[in-house]
Amino acid sequence: MITLGIETSCDETSVAVLKDGKRILSNVVYSSLKEHQPYGGVVPEIASRSHLETLLPCLRAALKKARVSLEDIDLVAATMGPGLMGSILVGLSAAKALAFSLRVPLIGVDHVLAHAYAAVLYEPKLRFPALALVVSGGHTLLLKMEGVTRMKVLGSTRDDAVGEAFDKVAKILGLGYPGGPEVDRLAKGQDTKRFYFSRPLLSQDSLDFSFSGIKTAVFYEAQRLQKAGPLSARAKKGICAGFQESVCDVLVEKSLRALRKHRLKTLVVGGGVSANSRLRQRMEAAAKREGVRAIFPPMSLCQDNAAMIAAYGHALYKAGKRDKLDLAGYPDFVVSKARSAASNHGN
Ligand code: KG4
Ligand code: ZN
Repeated sequence: MITLGIETSCDETSVAVLKDGKRILSNVVYSSLKEHQPYGGVVPEIASRSHLETLLPCLRAALKKARVSLEDIDLVAATMGPGLMGSILVGLSAAKALAFSLRVPLIGVDHVLAHAYAAVLYEPKLRFPALALVVSGGHTLLLKMEGVTRMKVLGSTRDDAVGEAFDKVAKILGLGYPGGPEVDRLAKGQDTKRFYFSRPLLSQDSLDFSFSGIKTAVFYEAQRLQKAGPLSARAKKGICAGFQESVCDVLVEKSLRALRKHRLKTLVVGGGVSANSRLRQRMEAAAKREGVRAIFPPMSLCQDNAAMIAAYGHALYKAGKRDKLDLAGYPDFVVSKARSAASNHGN
């Protein structure tokens, strides 16, 4: 069975072709990041216009690379939310048009749940239940993956997503966008204790996160230091290390608590922030101590990509989900929407 996946929730236009839901024949990704960089963040209008211009070239490239034609497609899966509405509509409308004209089923996929499910493409033998930590520019979630249609939200952020906090801290320190990779680079080899930032919600039993407070603490610390002159490179590096350590402490500790509480032995990490070298190092060490398997899929599957959308769409289809052509997109991650997107009743 050939599944075509379409992802356009933010600044990546991606089209993938999968065989039987697990074998990636192609996974073409175009990023409009460079067009957003002068503005220090993703500009929704620029993103949706870029999707309009690049979706068909990406589709042609994905079909060519996979050596299939449109007539070979058996199923179309597309991101229906959460994300930038204008961007989602471009991909979802294209998916509807393709499904209608090819007379094949359409499946709407929740982008965040697909980030968690992406691990299956890397580890096809992954067994449920498993814990997923999804950390990206837009989301921070702990999910109990009980099955394809049973993804339970155990905790989520009450304010900023973790990647958003990395990007905002980078902005405060005058670093480029996206800030995560820069903070990661500057923090390498630095003393993590020179600048201490509190660990939000760590003392509470809840599995929820909060990152806007750390970002504000970094802002005040930078302001305090700047009274004596511009921030030195050494101070920037130290702040990056202190901030990153605080974030890692929270992500690792909450993941461990969720694993223990729900007696889970497998942890998968997905989303762009899973590229963070300190998070990988700390999470792998903690999982080893705990006797838990930590799975970090390759970055091509962690960052926004259509292979994860096709894989999860195919799994939902196999579980009996069916969607209609009036399928509506949604901008925010809402537990009830994600639940109905993942149920086999469809829309
Ligand atoms: O999943 P993603 O590619 O896009 C979505 O947000 O869906 O994640 C992008 C986020 C950005 O906030 C970026 O700063 C962050 O991932 N990121 C990192 C690293 N690489 C990317 N954050 C921390 N350390 C990194 N090495
Ligand atoms: Zn994403």
